[in-house]
Amino acid sequence: MIKIGFIGFGNIASAMASGFNLNNKVKMYASARNYEKLVSNTLKYNVTPCKNNKELIDSVDFVVLAVKPYQVSQIFSEIKEYLADKILISVVAGLTFSTIEEFIPNIHHISICPNTPVAVGEGIIVYETINSLTNDEFSTFEDVFSELGLIETIDTEHFSLAGTVSGCTPAYAAMFIEALGDAGVMFGLTREQSYRFASQVLIGTGKLQQTSKLHPGQMKDAVCSPGGTTIKGVGILEKNGFRSSIIEAIKEIENK
Ligand SMILES: NC(=O)c1ccc[n+]([C@@H]2O[C@H](COP(=O)([O-])OP(=O)(O)OC[C@H]3O[C@@H](n4cnc5c(N)ncnc54)[C@H](OP(=O)(O)O)[C@@H]3O)[C@@H](O)[C@H]2O)c1
Repeated sequence: MIKIGFIGFGNIASAMASGFNLNNKVKMYASARNYEKLVSNTLKYNVTPCKNNKELIDSVDFVVLAVKPYQVSQIFSEIKEYLADKILISVVAGLTFSTIEEFIPNIHHISICPNTPVAVGEGIIVYETINSLTNDEFSTFEDVFSELGLIETIDTEHFSLAGTVSGCTPAYAAMFIEALGDAGVMFGLTREQSYRFASQVLIGTGKLQQTSKLHPGQMKDAVCSPGGTTIKGVGILEKNGFRSSIIEAIKEIENK
């Protein structure tokens, strides 16, 4: 069984652990700054807490670096001598292949960006095309991480953008669910029912697009009868900048 260790067990590491628990392909370990908090956070994920980062690295084959970007430099100084025969997988935003090479040259590593729906095996994992894994290591990586959802490669130039479009947007999808929930409640549906409908609309529409490959405009047109109610709603959404606000949000992130 492949052994995976998370350095840092916050939002994204626990989402990945939850996704890995859907099958029994991996055995998981984790380390963090606060050991007591780690013990309680790992309990429900079937993850073994380690006292420190060295103990974690000694226990595993794959080391997943899942800390905040500002913590990376200090952690690399601490762990670089232990990584020689390990595979490092970074999920840290902005940490590309060449940046890791500057910190620790000549180790086996790959940079990825997962999104939070990996927790239910319906996430997206984008990985930077350039990496230093052997063919066998890469096959194992692909086999294990594809359990978390869609896995796609992306060149370095577009890695950050792909991470934004797949990694930040679950927040916007959740806002859509919340807003539709509020509207449902405003007119008398229960909140639970409104959320159930809103979530299923996203799941179903996404699946329909993936399987049919229909242009989203065609999918919209299929719901809008001439002179009907849905097209009136489309007009209101356009008036309020529905599509352009999403484009502007991505632009804001990319121009940061
Ligand atoms: N959240 C997302 O949707 C998402 C998606 C893609 C990529 N990412 C990237 O994933 C990384 C982690 O994000 P997050 O949201 O999971 O952060 P988070 O919830 O703040 O978790 C950070 C973790 O790092 C641990 N940590 C801090 N210093 C450490 C040290 N010296 N040694 C070991 N562990 C240490 C923290 O432990 P303590 O709590 O004990 O301090 C905590 O468990 C970020 O770089 C982010 O860009 C996040």
